[in-house]
Amino acid sequence: MKEMTFKAALAVAALSAASLTQAAVVGGESDNTYVEAGTSTVDAGPHTSGLAGIGVETNSMNIDDKVDFQFLSVFSPSDIDGVHTLSSPIDVDDPDHSGMGVFSFAQAGSEDVWFGEWSEAGGPNFEHRTVYYVGEKGNVDATMPTSGEVNYAVTGINRHSAGNALSGTLTADFSGNTVSGSFGDGNLTIGIDANISGSSFSGTASAVDSAGSASGVSVGEFYGSNAAALAGMATFSGNSDYDTAFGGAR
Ligand code: HEM
Repeated sequence: MKEMTFKAALAVAALSAASLTQAAVVGGESDNTYVEAGTSTVDAGPHTSGLAGIGVETNSMNIDDKVDFQFLSVFSPSDIDGVHTLSSPIDVDDPDHSGMGVFSFAQAGSEDVWFGEWSEAGGPNFEHRTVYYVGEKGNVDATMPTSGEVNYAVTGINRHSAGNALSGTLTADFSGNTVSGSFGDGNLTIGIDANISGSSFSGTASAVDSAGSASGVSVGEFYGSNAAALAGMATFSGNSDYDTAFGGAR
């Protein structure tokens, strides 16, 4: 009991120290059964706490133990799309780094902002595929543009293999408070139609490919000075093959 009280006090202290120096890490995932995006908590080996991160649930790892994308991006090579793919087993024993599944993720601009997908074993079946986005908000709330249109060059990640990333443009209209546009790869096209509230956005999404089409929802965040970057996800209830993580920069 005593220890819990001490830990709680530490957590409060850490939280207030963090809020003095930085805003917050904000993001989401389509489902948090296997992976969860959030502030990195692990300070061991090559991992650093306090950054945009992700945790995975395995026999030897807990979803609350989140590691920073920054190191994961250095460790795993990026492909022609600028997408990093990390697949276990990684040769670390304590904790056992095997059975963590396959992560494909990319960075939005040069911010500590990341988006991507996880699945149990990667392609072609992408079992239990989950999409996510997460980033450090920085001073975006104090510097959000209040007028004008800004185009973001956006990448989308859906059942990733090298060369199949989606690309396109999302336009943020800071006068009308909307985010709209589309991105595709010649087969799948994802459309976004959302409203801005604060430095977040949410709305509808559409998916069209040779197999059919679906309607879904979109959520996302702006990050960094003057909304330098954005990231989010489009999800399609009952049609999760269309679930797509996206991100980009001005
Ligand atoms: C998504 C991917 C990864 C996750 C979720 C993850 C998670 C973790 C966790 C939970 C710990 C234990 C921290 C603690 O003791 O409190 C850890 C330690 C460690 N990780 Fe990772 N890790 C990942 C990728 C990697 C990669 C790519 C490497 C590179 C080789 C790596 C190397 C290490 C090392 C060396 C340690 C320290 C082990 C020790 O203390 O002896 N990890 N990791």
